[in-house]
Amino acid sequence: MTTLSFPFLRAMEKPKRSINRLETSAPLAQLPENLSAERVLEVQHYTNRLFRFTITRPASFRFRAGEFVMIGLRTADRPLMRAYSIASAPSAEALEFYSIIVPDGPLTSRLCRIKPGDEVLMARKATGTLVLDALTPATRLFLVSTGTGFAPFASILREPETYAKFKQVIVTHTCRDAAELRYSADVVNALPDDPLVGEAAAFHVMRYATCTRGSCQRRGRITDLMQSGKAFADMGIAPLSPAHDRVMICGSLGFNHDMQALLMRAGFTEGSNAAPGEFLVEKAFVG
Ligand code: A2P
Repeated sequence: MTTLSFPFLRAMEKPKRSINRLETSAPLAQLPENLSAERVLEVQHYTNRLFRFTITRPASFRFRAGEFVMIGLRTADRPLMRAYSIASAPSAEALEFYSIIVPDGPLTSRLCRIKPGDEVLMARKATGTLVLDALTPATRLFLVSTGTGFAPFASILREPETYAKFKQVIVTHTCRDAAELRYSADVVNALPDDPLVGEAAAFHVMRYATCTRGSCQRRGRITDLMQSGKAFADMGIAPLSPAHDRVMICGSLGFNHDMQALLMRAGFTEGSNAAPGEFLVEKAFVG
């Protein structure tokens, strides 16, 4: 898969070419067995390039917090699918996704027009690397994101197991401007009212949001703010250490790479489903 990381749609959807077979109107006759046809329940646009939506959940669909699934739309000759992180809790009735809109992107330029009642296709199986099982035990969990990379962390923040495993959860979100930070603010602000995690989240979640281009309360790339120590000083917490921290990284390819390098310099070792470790990087959308 060559699409990059946006939960997502991780944003690197390629603009469509001028001759576009997807515009033909004849419906795909039959869906492949690995896909189900779901219905859109809600759509909320945050900016002209970011929106969230929820869809119905098939009764048999299971996933772990942090995993992604292929979703998409029916087109004339084939389903057009991309990987999206699931933002809802594993126990939620509906499935929530957070998407970038790539101008002229084959899928997102169409997906951004969905309305309640419309059809969205979804693969029957979820998978992914950003899961709690792939981390060894520690005290604090850092969820470090840029852009739509926050989406899998919405799921992890809504999952009770997160608070059983970690005493403190620090979620960081960096975007270009303040308007792009609203989704993570909405998710974190709603946590105290969540019947499953409300009590734990109210006391144990800290959100640190920064922007890099527009005006906002805190400015700067999270990599720079961590490296200089400013992020930890702002939050009044101890700097990152493999002795007591675990980290999940999710954002653009460049960000994932820089953040991974920062952690490795600090002595963290990467984990996986097969061999749990001290940090995890979203790999689904790379390569
Ligand atoms: P910047 O504005 O300095 O590029 P995007 O919307 O392009 O995916 O970017 C989301 C956020 O991620 C932006 O604030 C951007 O900062 C930041 N970002 C992009 N690349 C990196 C990187 N390599 N390290 C840290 N932050 C990054």
